[in-house]
Amino acid sequence: MHVLVVGGAGYIGSHMVKWLRQRGFEVTVLDNLSNGYRDAVKGGRFVHGDLGERAALDEAFGRAPIDGVMHFASYIQVGESVQEPAKYYLNNVSKTQQLLDAMRAYRVKHFIFSSTAAIFGEPERTPIDESHPKQPINPYGRGKWMVEQMLQDYDAAYGLKSVCLRYFNAAGADPDGELGERHQPETHLIPLVLQAAAGRRSHITVFGDDYETPDGTCIRDYIHVDDLCQAHGLALQRLWAGGASAVYNLGNGNGFSVREVIETAEAVVGHAIPVQYGVRRPGDPARLVADSRRARTELGWEPRYTDLATIIAHAWRWETRATVARPAGENG
Ligand code: UFG
Repeated sequence: MHVLVVGGAGYIGSHMVKWLRQRGFEVTVLDNLSNGYRDAVKGGRFVHGDLGERAALDEAFGRAPIDGVMHFASYIQVGESVQEPAKYYLNNVSKTQQLLDAMRAYRVKHFIFSSTAAIFGEPERTPIDESHPKQPINPYGRGKWMVEQMLQDYDAAYGLKSVCLRYFNAAGADPDGELGERHQPETHLIPLVLQAAAGRRSHITVFGDDYETPDGTCIRDYIHVDDLCQAHGLALQRLWAGGASAVYNLGNGNGFSVREVIETAEAVVGHAIPVQYGVRRPGDPARLVADSRRARTELGWEPRYTDLATIIAHAWRWETRATVARPAGENG
């Protein structure tokens, strides 16, 4: 089977490409390298181009029959989406529609979409299951929810089957140490904490310690990138087996506070990490924890790396390796 991985040079996409190749799938990657790295693509055919470009889509779809598409090519910064909504709606919504229309043109029927916990907005209850109301509070979350709704319509009208996977906090790195998180700029907690541990940053700033949580810092559900890949693989198999379109929330079901993440990171790296306490970051809910039972029962998904220390240890191996290997300037 041949899978088109759009955004396969980015953080989660590059892990997905490796995962698919290790299991014998044919892979084509389409990536414009705006946030990805060519050297992160470990195998498969690479098409350098944008998902909004007709020629790039023709190149990606036209060479060999594609059996399924996975789409990781979204902008992901919530704060930036508030400042520049046009950028987010253009790439994450309009160009995603162009990708779906290319699938229609090439008669590709199976699509796995990277959605997000941000579609739920400020949670009414936790853990958050799939039926929780969708009330996104920023353009990033609204765009993802728009695509989920678009996919329902494309299924009803065109028979395009999809699985939307709503990630909570993707984290960790390739267990082999070959791939990891390389966002520019880096905004995610675990890599920032580890960059502070490695001396690449002076400290980590905790965004608020006056939340209504046991230690006052925000609680998140960190899920290992390799476990996300497993869920994508299972989701595509389900569609190939004739399964209906579906949506799944993906998390560990365990929440950890920012302070717990820092303490666990200190245990992993073996020394104290400089911490400063700052104000709340706008738009951060106090607690985001997934109820992923549906993915476990329907997909047979069994996350392997549920232990926070393991997730951080894998990220740390990448971080220490990256400190040596990364080109100057790529400093997160
Ligand atoms: N945090 C800090 N200091 C930092 C960075 C983050 O204290 O320097 C805190 C945040 O306030 C938050 C937690 O660490 O409480 C996790 O923050 P991240 O930025 O790592 O992740 P988010 O929970 O904000 O975002 C993630 C995804 C988004 C997605 C969102 C869903 O990265 O793409 O979950 O709500 F939209």
